Amino acid sequence: MTGRCHPLLAAVVAAAVLLACGPGAEAQVRLPPPPKAPPLVGAKKPAAKKAAAKKPAQQKKKGAKKPVPKKPVAKKPGAMGQPRAPQRANAQRKPAQPRRLVDLYPQGLPAKPTAPKPAPAKGAPAVTPDILKLDNAWFYKGGKFDVERGKDAVVALMKHHGYPVFPKIREKIWVSDYGLGQYTKVGLAAVMFQNNVKDRYMLMDLFLMPGQMLPEHWHLAGEGNPAKLEGWLVRHGQSHVVGEGADNCALPIPAIHDGGKVTVKHVVTANPGDFVPLNRAEAHHWQMAGPAGAIITEVANVHTDSAVRHQDKVMNDYFLKGG
Ligand SMILES: [Fe+2]
Repeated sequence: MTGRCHPLLAAVVAAAVLLACGPGAEAQVRLPPPPKAPPLVGAKKPAAKKAAAKKPAQQKKKGAKKPVPKKPVAKKPGAMGQPRAPQRANAQRKPAQPRRLVDLYPQGLPAKPTAPKPAPAKGAPAVTPDILKLDNAWFYKGGKFDVERGKDAVVALMKHHGYPVFPKIREKIWVSDYGLGQYTKVGLAAVMFQNNVKDRYMLMDLFLMPGQMLPEHWHLAGEGNPAKLEGWLVRHGQSHVVGEGADNCALPIPAIHDGGKVTVKHVVTANPGDFVPLNRAEAHHWQMAGPAGAIITEVANVHTDSAVRHQDKVMNDYFLKGG
């Protein structure tokens, strides 16, 4: 037995070796899990990651080109084609016009302040709103017409009717009682927006307080200008426009106006949107506002102060002196 292997034992050992080193065992040995390669610059995997990382950046670029981050833009009120968000619409709504007397009359309150009423519906109001019921004496200080109070009343009229109170419009208001001391009965306020003497056109807005009369007058040629030919568009309130034609006048002419007289008596009652032209240059004309006053746009070829004549002599003299 010494030094010699039993044939059976040799066979068993050989089988064991075969089993341990068979083809399967060989494969496991030859293909161990590959060692982790160190990251390489430009290797595929990191490159793919880089590309993936770039994606959002590219999207961002595209997004920047679009009107996308337009969240604020889309919500912008008034943007073309953008439906208006309800909250936006509400936010845009302007606060109601001030109706406190103290706001409307910074020079001092009218004699009998009363609670303001809401503005009447569009059209010809039949009653005088309380904020426009002004005592004649309130317009005078020391017997002299107070221009600032006259302007207060005009601005109150503007606000009451929703007329745009343009910036610095107060400075442009011309207001006069024609020296008669009865502004609530006879007087006028106006804003001359344009009087182009060179090209001969003008645009002016007239403001009449409730029941106030714009006195009878006419226009001559003067200073190289032709006689003024004009027409009136009532924008707010109501105005009785009076000129040549059949007498249909039942309006109360104030006694302070030439002893209660007028020479033309054809009345055309104009409400908002009505335009009434003067029938001819140099024709006499006058107006009287309805119960809520009147705001009237006047258009004409050109206006010349020195060429205006008034039927009432006191008024005529006063006006020609620059009153
Ligand atoms: Fe006139």
